[in-house]
Amino acid sequence: MSTPLLFAFPGNETLAACLAAGLDAELGEFEVRRFPDGESYVRFDSDVTGRPVILLATLVRPDEKVMALLFAAMAARDEGAHSVGLVAPYLSYMRQDRQFRPGEAITSCHFAKILSGAVDWLVTVDPHLHRHSSLSDIYTIPTTAASSAPLLAAWIGDNVKNPFLLGPDEESRQWVAEVARGSGDAPFSVFSKVRHGDRDVVITLPDSIDLSGRTPVLVDDIISTAGTMAEAARLITRQGGRAPVCVAVHGVFAGKAEELLMDAGVARVVTTNTIAHATNAIDITGLLARSTRSMLAP
Ligand code: R5P
Repeated sequence: MSTPLLFAFPGNETLAACLAAGLDAELGEFEVRRFPDGESYVRFDSDVTGRPVILLATLVRPDEKVMALLFAAMAARDEGAHSVGLVAPYLSYMRQDRQFRPGEAITSCHFAKILSGAVDWLVTVDPHLHRHSSLSDIYTIPTTAASSAPLLAAWIGDNVKNPFLLGPDEESRQWVAEVARGSGDAPFSVFSKVRHGDRDVVITLPDSIDLSGRTPVLVDDIISTAGTMAEAARLITRQGGRAPVCVAVHGVFAGKAEELLMDAGVARVVTTNTIAHATNAIDITGLLARSTRSMLAP
């Protein structure tokens, strides 16, 4: 098969250079911009004829990006690409996985339908799988959901003495357990969380945990508004625990999330580079390269 061509959407350039090196892929050139009226413009400079095309676009704030992504996938096919795959280190629209109120769009399903119609395969990292047990429940194309748990565990093992891992809600138990196992069997527990609104969560700390002599490490898949992490951090310190370290896979940081975390007195916030941010300390490039290579295998 000919050498894959990797195209980085704006904002993904740093990750693209590392990923291309890890895949022995060539970095392709294309133009993605907006017309003055806000419509998207895409033009391939590199010749994609007969080549496997990889589009790299992390899908944080997806509504600003998706039209250009769909047009790029269609244009690559029109230009004769052998195949078109999507590497989306952060996959958006996974959290609306049922109707919470009558009449709501179940956007995880609708978004999956849109992407499944546009690309041949999808690679992502820790998509928010809660009520959907796997991506194949909603995506009709081959997908790989790479797990960053071993990388998170390694970072905690190397950087935090006597960690006590805490997951924000019951659904995170299995995942936090995996990170704990990888961090030398660190003790762990999970909170109970009730969400009352986009920015309003109520969290309860389990009675039985003893944080004395331990550094609390809050582990979650997404920091969005940071309401969850900030509330959990406040609860821990109010009960006499040390200022926690917050570790998340995807740092979305919506609105005043960073301010909220600082005000809550967290010791440090650490994320992976699925979304470029100053808190990135855990590199998922190798993970992405392995998963993408398996998609490209003949
Ligand atoms: C939801 O269940 C996720 O695992 C996260 O806990 C949630 O997305 C965090 O959102 P926020 O930062 O807005 O509280």
